[in-house]
Amino acid sequence: MTDPVEQLVTTIKDSIDDQTFQKLTLGKFQDELSTVQHVYVRIVDLKTGPHLSFVYRYPNQDITKNSAIPEGIGVIAGWLGSSCKSATLLTSNGRQQLLFSRRNKPRLFSQESSFAKSTEDKSNSSQSRLRPVSAFSYVGQGHKGHKVLSMELASGSALPSLAAANRSHDREKVRLLRDERALQLLGVIDSQGRPRPQMGNKYRQVHHFIEALAPILKGTSPGETLHIVDMGCGKGYLTFALHRFLQENSLRPVTVGVEKRGPLVESANAIAGQLGDNSIRFIQGEINDVDVKPIDILIALHACDTATDDAIYRGIQEECRWIVVSPCCQHELRPQLTAPTGLEPLFRHGVQVDRMAETVTDTLRCLYLEAWGYQSRIQEFVGTEHTAKNLLIVASRTRKAGPRSDLVERALEFQHRFGIQNQRLQRLLMV
Ligand SMILES: C[S@@+](CC[C@H](N)C(=O)[O-])C[C@H]1O[C@@H](n2cnc3c(N)ncnc32)[C@H](O)[C@@H]1O
Repeated sequence: MTDPVEQLVTTIKDSIDDQTFQKLTLGKFQDELSTVQHVYVRIVDLKTGPHLSFVYRYPNQDITKNSAIPEGIGVIAGWLGSSCKSATLLTSNGRQQLLFSRRNKPRLFSQESSFAKSTEDKSNSSQSRLRPVSAFSYVGQGHKGHKVLSMELASGSALPSLAAANRSHDREKVRLLRDERALQLLGVIDSQGRPRPQMGNKYRQVHHFIEALAPILKGTSPGETLHIVDMGCGKGYLTFALHRFLQENSLRPVTVGVEKRGPLVESANAIAGQLGDNSIRFIQGEINDVDVKPIDILIALHACDTATDDAIYRGIQEECRWIVVSPCCQHELRPQLTAPTGLEPLFRHGVQVDRMAETVTDTLRCLYLEAWGYQSRIQEFVGTEHTAKNLLIVASRTRKAGPRSDLVERALEFQHRFGIQNQRLQRLLMV
């Protein structure tokens, strides 16, 4: 039987060749790599051709190194079984996981996957709903008592196109936002449309943000006026991008950027003037008391700490259709956070408690949003290799909310389990 390590390395090579490779996650590092928590490997298309991008995750930072594909595969093959004891390969054909026993015996598990068109979609919509269906199998050296799971495979796979999309270089991608004049005036791209030095992350962030918000279009009608407010808009990168994207999609946005720093407001208004667009403007003000209404869509990207709660609260007050925030620096709850009974081991390490504080803060925000009639979800909008500030809370107003008192009770019970007596959104809602 083929050695499982060789088998995995061959699959990695093959998947890169046939463009089905999506991601490789390496873990359980030892020896000289013992301080690395994980290494995430993806394909990036650089000017000199496709490369492997290795993101080394350390407890307090990520370090990215790019490597030509043959060298990168050599590095991975050298690690497996020596300094690295776990590898998970994700391709559009499925997942393979390589694990090593205490005696360093490799075992390779494979899980095929496919996506099936749901037959339950009664809406006659032309959009197909995709549902993952999997088949699990075990490859490599046998192990007594190992369970083999098995499920039927369904027809049709949507994943190869995703794999190909993942590989595309930023500038070659089909972008949802086509008119980038504002990005040029803001200094994100040069006159050739290339991201300026140091602005690549911002450029990607803007486009990922537009992709994340595109579903909002579904609930709108051509020609409709939408009032957009961007709380804590900074220079207005995302404000201009969303405004233009909505215009490109036959909507009539009326957009206001709110920012407490006067010079940023002035420069953003100057750019709106250069674009000759009087349906977007910027005003100096504080999120919690600025006088701006009506609001259909409220966004607040990276408004630090409790400024995000202020923004959510304004959105709830104005009964916005959509509230989209990207939280950051969630410090408020950190000093209050205590371990629920039985979960003490999760609270032993400071760095984990920091992350927990972020997770609990955002979960609580979603629970309060739900209590006030919003459906909410938390999603990534840009890869962790670009920034750790990469989560979006996307909330849409719904009429189907359950009884508020039950939902508030659920939120309070949740926060009390973590020892939290006070949270900004909770106080603003006066719960
Ligand atoms: C990290 S920047 C993000 C800017 C922009 N949203 C983006 O993502 O590119 C946060 C901005 O929010 C502004 N800000 C923070 N708290 C605010 C508040 N309470 N009222 C108005 N602006 C605020 C800051 O001045 C800063 O420009």
